[in-house]
Amino acid sequence: MSERIEVLIPEEEVDKRISEIGEEISKAYAGKTIHMICILKGGAMFMCELAKRINLPVTMDFMSVSSYGDDTKSSGIVRISKDLDESLSGKDVLIVEDIIDSGRTLSYLIEVLKQRGPKSIEICTLLDKPSRREKLVKVDYSCFSIPNEFVVGYGLDYAQKYRNLPYIGVVRFD
Ligand code: IMP
Ligand code: MG
Repeated sequence: MSERIEVLIPEEEVDKRISEIGEEISKAYAGKTIHMICILKGGAMFMCELAKRINLPVTMDFMSVSSYGDDTKSSGIVRISKDLDESLSGKDVLIVEDIIDSGRTLSYLIEVLKQRGPKSIEICTLLDKPSRREKLVKVDYSCFSIPNEFVVGYGLDYAQKYRNLPYIGVVRFD
């Protein structure tokens, strides 16, 4: 069985859309400093590209999470495998995620982070698969809604591969 990647969203389209969202966020947060939190590893490339297009003061922190429970039935509890370095107290926090699928990860995470006293907290995702949602999550900024396909590239992986692709692709098995 061989894998091939079919382009779903080409590089120029992704870049253009990130610029638009960057502008939108810059306007919405005018006069503030945005504390961007990257959810590793998938959110890393999007975080960098987005931050470059925000013309406001930005600080950054990183956290790594993994689903807790077995494959078939996730409890919705996530294990924080790398926590933030800095406090969120009084900050305008923007969570930057690669993709929202069932919504379990973010619905849990946002509750945990809210308890750390941020002034505000919003979510920005590169991709959203609304048809897969199990937990309600308020997504404030989303670059693209996509169908229920397993995608890679722009930070997203399949078995740790393809994160470096500069476009969004679908994995096909021939
Ligand atoms: P959920 O929203 O809690 O179901 O989980 C979202 C996480 O699952 C994302 O942050 C990704 O790490 C991973 N994920 C979901 N769908 C995909 C996909 O199509 N490609 C790669 N990773 C995915
Ligand atoms: Mg992720």
